[in-house]
Amino acid sequence: MAKHHTVSLGEETFTLQSGQILLDGAIAAGVGIPHDCRSGRCGSCMTEIKAGITLGGETRQLGTVYACQTRVFSDLKIAIEAVPAVEYVRASISALRDLTSDVVELEITPSAPFSYLPGQYCRFTFNGFPTRCFSPTAALDGSPSDGKFHLQIKRVRQGRISTNLGEKIKVGHSLTIEGPFGHGFLRPGLDKRLVLVAGGTGFAPIWSVAEAALRENPHRSMLIVVGVRKLGSFYMGAALDIASKLPNVEIIATAEEHQTTFHAVQFGTPAEHVPSLSGADVVYAAGAPVMVDAVGVMAEAAGAKFYCDPFESTASETGDWITRAMTWLRTG
Ligand code: FES
Repeated sequence: MAKHHTVSLGEETFTLQSGQILLDGAIAAGVGIPHDCRSGRCGSCMTEIKAGITLGGETRQLGTVYACQTRVFSDLKIAIEAVPAVEYVRASISALRDLTSDVVELEITPSAPFSYLPGQYCRFTFNGFPTRCFSPTAALDGSPSDGKFHLQIKRVRQGRISTNLGEKIKVGHSLTIEGPFGHGFLRPGLDKRLVLVAGGTGFAPIWSVAEAALRENPHRSMLIVVGVRKLGSFYMGAALDIASKLPNVEIIATAEEHQTTFHAVQFGTPAEHVPSLSGADVVYAAGAPVMVDAVGVMAEAAGAKFYCDPFESTASETGDWITRAMTWLRTG
């Protein structure tokens, strides 16, 4: 007969079989552990193991696992961070503009108030098009959002959403939003240095975190490292201009192409320009998984807290493992 273990989450308890995936057991018991991808990528299900033994699903946070990847081998005491409940809301595009030749900004007006934490992402389904995940962010010019969402979407060749922005998907287009998801959100009340690292449109969740953190405490120490592949894709200038006016904010900009026009933009990837970290830092990274992982290794080595939002590559848009991955593309 299979051995069973008891899992305690706050006031709730549930039972699962020895060796069962923690998230599967929670879902079967009707216990709410936030989740999305169920494949160890999105971080939504990060769970702290306060007591007990699990195997697999380790994260870069000591004592924290992906509940969708870890198997339970003893009674457990676990904890999860409070996040807004997942909701569906109808919405429409209220503005659309090209930020560069390959990045588009959408302003989306939901039909009802919708809660998310800065740095979380949602699923957006434009009517007639497949679902994609994007991170709502603050306006680049710092203007108040008034309940509207701003999305920064990279145009990619053969992208089923991005190639249609401004064509079949225009102002007035209807959509649904589902969310929020993800673990790379701003924790309030932190007084440590924030190190925020963004590659490409990974700047969307990073700017969301930065803007909210500076609104909470304009005097907090912050380093923003932001990079693009091509200089022509550098769309973040207005936001960085606002942040750079604060003496406590340092900015490092990078591009992966050699150029001599902008001395402030250094050659290389954002990860290559992250300075020494300390255990007192709180590090966020968003963008290409390889870059996010490199920053995670640095944060782990320094003993810093690390939160991330790795974007799937557009190469995943064609392939066999389709359905789940398709909803995951952040580039459109
Ligand atoms: S649901 Fe576990 S990492 Fe996404």
